[in-house]
Amino acid sequence: MIRVLLLVIGYCLGMIQTGYLYGRMKGIDIRKAGSGNSGATNSLRVLGKKAGLIVFAVDLCKCFIPCLIVKAWAVSSGQQHMEDIYMLYLAFGVILGHNYPCYLNFKGGKGISSTSGFILAFDLRIAAVCLAAFSVIVGTTRYVSLGSLTVVSICFVMGVIFGVNGMLSVEPANMAEFIILLALITIQAYIRHRANIKRLLSGTENKIGAKK
Ligand code: G3P
Repeated sequence: MIRVLLLVIGYCLGMIQTGYLYGRMKGIDIRKAGSGNSGATNSLRVLGKKAGLIVFAVDLCKCFIPCLIVKAWAVSSGQQHMEDIYMLYLAFGVILGHNYPCYLNFKGGKGISSTSGFILAFDLRIAAVCLAAFSVIVGTTRYVSLGSLTVVSICFVMGVIFGVNGMLSVEPANMAEFIILLALITIQAYIRHRANIKRLLSGTENKIGAKK
């Protein structure tokens, strides 16, 4: 029951479409401009640096802060062994709501800012490696999508390694559930980046900082 509740709460939080709302304030439907993504990268591309930064920060926080709250609640209620599992349900819900908001015909963003918020709350070691990899990849290639896909892949691989080796609070009995949830977050990111992957493979992906 708690799991379903966390998923639903997460989905509702994820539906706070910062990029869409910011664009609307400026008279632009962000989903009809640039890459059509309502996340931070397209907000930066279409609405400018300030918008990109605000959308990134809010979308990150809408996952990060609730994840911290769930973690603290799990610990304070004596369920420390469940903190990562509960947090994963919540984060998966947030990312789902961000990517597929029901009130916008299920057309939202790609979930990377919110996933970053989850990673930050999940494990600082993983977050540090993700940040370093993202900075190097985007700094050298200018492909945000490649950086994003690398981040979710690193989070999955390191999360599984840490989990299996007892470096997280997951118990062996919950390991399969833990890995499945992490995999679902990763797969969702790949599904949302299908068009980016095609463009990356054909060498036509948009570069950040390039002319619109
Ligand atoms: O976080 C989204 C990013 O990976 C790609 O965004 O707008 O270039 O498709 P976009």
